[in-house]
Amino acid sequence: MAARSVGLLTRLPLCSQRPAQVPRPAFRLLSCPGTVAADVRSEEQPPDCRKAGSEDKAPKKRFSEVQKERREQAQRTVLIHCPSKISEKKFLKYLSQHGPINNHFFYESFGLYAVVEFCQKDSINSLKNETHTPCLDTEAVIPFKSRFFNLKLKHQSNRISEPLCTQSSSQSPPSSKKLFELLNYAESMDDQLNTLLKAFQLTEENIKLRYLTCSLIEDIAAAYFPSCVVWPFGSSVNSFGKLGCDLDMFLDLDEIEKCDVHKNVGNFLMEFQVKNVPSGRIATQKILSVIGECLDHFGPGCVGVQKILNARCPLVRFSHQASGFQCDLTTNNRIALKSSELLYIYGSLDSRVRALVFSLRFWARAHSLTSSIPGAWITNFSLTVMVIFFLQRRSPPILPTLDSLKSLADAEDRCVIEGSNCTFIQDLNKIKPSGNTETLELLLKEFFEYFGNFSFNKNSINIRQGKEQNKPDSSPLHIQNPFEPSLNISKNVSQSQLQKLVDLARESAWILQQEDRHQPSPSSKRPWGLTTLLIPTAGSKFLPKKKRKKPVSERVKSLLESIKDNSPESSTNTDGKTAMS
Ligand code: CTP
Ligand code: MG
Repeated sequence: MAARSVGLLTRLPLCSQRPAQVPRPAFRLLSCPGTVAADVRSEEQPPDCRKAGSEDKAPKKRFSEVQKERREQAQRTVLIHCPSKISEKKFLKYLSQHGPINNHFFYESFGLYAVVEFCQKDSINSLKNETHTPCLDTEAVIPFKSRFFNLKLKHQSNRISEPLCTQSSSQSPPSSKKLFELLNYAESMDDQLNTLLKAFQLTEENIKLRYLTCSLIEDIAAAYFPSCVVWPFGSSVNSFGKLGCDLDMFLDLDEIEKCDVHKNVGNFLMEFQVKNVPSGRIATQKILSVIGECLDHFGPGCVGVQKILNARCPLVRFSHQASGFQCDLTTNNRIALKSSELLYIYGSLDSRVRALVFSLRFWARAHSLTSSIPGAWITNFSLTVMVIFFLQRRSPPILPTLDSLKSLADAEDRCVIEGSNCTFIQDLNKIKPSGNTETLELLLKEFFEYFGNFSFNKNSINIRQGKEQNKPDSSPLHIQNPFEPSLNISKNVSQSQLQKLVDLARESAWILQQEDRHQPSPSSKRPWGLTTLLIPTAGSKFLPKKKRKKPVSERVKSLLESIKDNSPESSTNTDGKTAMS
């Protein structure tokens, strides 16, 4: 996962723009032939545009509505590699001869790119008709005509000497230094958690680029499966995505079946003649193998294509060079799309959820509890489910259980995937908000205490019932897959990694317990609150010397002994504030 830095330069809605009369095109648009080699720099990215930490009173869209709207938007959009210095005005005038432009923005990622959304899909055909396939002297090109173009200047007069946009707003994440500065200037710990969310959540432009990338891949897969859909899933859409996160894609071929079933009227049922293979897994492997080849050979900007077909969930992994996204394409993974929807609902129900998850994901990354490399460590997905479970356990609960979301479902919500019941209410406006008013500061502390003391050796985490359950097997960490109860989503986690998580949770609880509740003067530059927890050596570096005499584990143990009796329920006042010594 992780993508290279994408710098946003400008964005301008031009919906009312009329197709302009351009006497003579100033540019030549070339479709980008497939590029070979090159790796993508791994770096995580930042900023935002949505409100963080505040309740939005407007009706919230269903996950499926968001997905459909964004996909449709992406289908009217093109990606253009531009010369480094061009006149934006002339560029837009040139493009709008093909139809009005709804929206556009520029970003930098090993060159300058423009994402241009037309008001109508037809404009793209018009643009394609005018586009040339390049002729190269030394190499041959594969004339695959996608929506990814290369813009060249015909006349030097179109080049401008000043930067493209003086008011460039960077899409790069704040550096660690900047982040710590931001956090130190925050007014409270709650403010710190919300600041972190705001700085690192996906921006509107980044989300658009993610949907556009899926749409471009869909065009390639459509060469074999004309009615297929490529849906983004995972953190790109579940509301917990951090700038730089990978792009999980689901190649949906069932849309084909759905469309066709309803067309069969009368006495006959028409079926396609198809090839049969011994199992669904083999079918998946064959499909992904061919699509992987296609991406590798013909996909403009798709590099480093790897076919990982023997994994439990076969996938094709590649880098999409122009967007900088590391992509994982799967096809028999519909349940994961549903679990992304579930997380989207949980993330949208209460503004504290995302703030808490982001900070904990950061905390875990800062202490190397999570990694972009697969291994015996906990994943962001598992960590998010742990936070959801913890929030279900509060009194009163901040999040409902999956079973209660199921009980609110009506007929249209019914969903069974490969025998697994994935039914839950899709309209999040029908879910009653929680009456819990606990602060983020308190929740963070209690999260560390809760999991610092959790009986991982006996119990399993289950967000369907919102209750601890007896562990069905001996895996160190057992988190039940919400839709496939026989599966453990954290099966990969080793005992030592779990122990590390527990130790760090205890130490963080201890640090917060010691923390002065008041923010020091920002000019003091002393890390406080959340910042102390994000510094990898926080435990030893910032503790007062005299308190460092005992080993950390001992200190933590005695501290936890002393607070064990104060269960979250018993220590919570009526106003939701915990009375902690
Ligand atoms: N998933 C799952 N079971 C797992 C692992 C993953 O159902 N054991 C699904 C989840 O819906 C998850 C998605 O696959 O959100 C993508 O997995 P992954 O990329 O590992 O997690 P993300 O949630 O996307 O988080 P990250 O930002 O780390 O990519
Ligand atoms: Mg992901």
